[in-house]
Amino acid sequence: MTRGRFGGISRRRMLQGTAALAASTGVPTGWAIAQAKPLKVGLMLPYSGTFAKLGENITFAVETLLAEKGGKLGGREIQFVKLDDESKPENGPQNADRLVKRDQVDVLIGTVHSGVQMGIHKVVKESGTLTIIPNAGNNVVTRAECAKNVFRTSFTNWQPAHGMGLELGRRGIKKAAWVTWDYAAGQESGEGFKQGLEKHGGQLVQLLTLKFPETNFQPLLAQIPNLGVEVVGSFFAGGGAVQFVKEYAAAGIKVPLCGSGFLTEGTLGAQGDAANGIETALHYGDGLDNPKNLAFRKAFKDKAGRDADVYAVQGYDAAQLLAIGLEAVKGNMDDEAGLYKAMRAAKIDSPRGSISMAPSQNVTQNIYLRKVQGGENKVVGVAAENLADPGTGCTLA
Ligand code: PHB
Repeated sequence: MTRGRFGGISRRRMLQGTAALAASTGVPTGWAIAQAKPLKVGLMLPYSGTFAKLGENITFAVETLLAEKGGKLGGREIQFVKLDDESKPENGPQNADRLVKRDQVDVLIGTVHSGVQMGIHKVVKESGTLTIIPNAGNNVVTRAECAKNVFRTSFTNWQPAHGMGLELGRRGIKKAAWVTWDYAAGQESGEGFKQGLEKHGGQLVQLLTLKFPETNFQPLLAQIPNLGVEVVGSFFAGGGAVQFVKEYAAAGIKVPLCGSGFLTEGTLGAQGDAANGIETALHYGDGLDNPKNLAFRKAFKDKAGRDADVYAVQGYDAAQLLAIGLEAVKGNMDDEAGLYKAMRAAKIDSPRGSISMAPSQNVTQNIYLRKVQGGENKVVGVAAENLADPGTGCTLA
């Protein structure tokens, strides 16, 4: 939504006036012209670095949904403006600012990295730009810093790891460690894991970290056999996850490795046998046997030439959520109340199963237990049913 002011009159007021004029004179002006223009959608995602494949899959999936809708959402043509954020938090605010101010995007879809998301959040909270987060899990943007123009179709960092912790706790695990990158996604997922374990009397006894996106894992791996833990939980993703899982297996460590599901997501081809048997918890699994998932996986493979993963699903659902909102207001983004109302109430037929938005505008969803078997994340159970993030401090309800 462009938030420009025209001589002190808000853009929306001006368009309302011109719409009335058009109705009385039959001459198409402001509103009609605005609707005929393509809707600008900024895709601020990593297209390089350790998360490049994640950004690509989100993009392919957004384009897959758009193709299914005949190239239009709510009657509006879509024009994409793509920006590689490189997963660099220090450039986040400036990159978001470019899309919002210079390119004047109507909608921003982004991003993957929690630190970069903080930069986007600062900018869009101020500009009021409709933003849909297709991955980044930083808890705060749908907790204390939640905003009515910010929706998330992925997860909070707390959610999947909490499911894993609950599952291990129920099995009677008493002592575990968490290995991760030292930034919001690693820390918050570790906290979710810890809370899940503690619910059933288990404990997180050690947190091992290295800086994002470093992959010097050997000093951490060397400590694991002496920690006295029954299991090691982990958050890594993308290229870093490929390398961590391979080095963990190569080190011959006897303590089982598990994690939030990103550890083995979109990475199995590259991880090979090293990933066999790893259990993880996530809001998606390759083999989920519902018609939407089967159709989506086929459509995605036709488009991208590779298999869908959770990132593709989250991107597809970001586009589905936008489509639901735009269809409700017939492409008129100036009907902000109607747009947000429809998006908040959306029931999305996701490849992961049916999902809805919690009041904080994050997804309430099943967290599945998966096990790597034969190059696939096989769903073997449900670690946490219909899990909503606590949404602590968000007052949007
Ligand atoms: C994040 O930074 O929030 C993040 C990145 C990659 C993932 C999950 C979360 O796979």
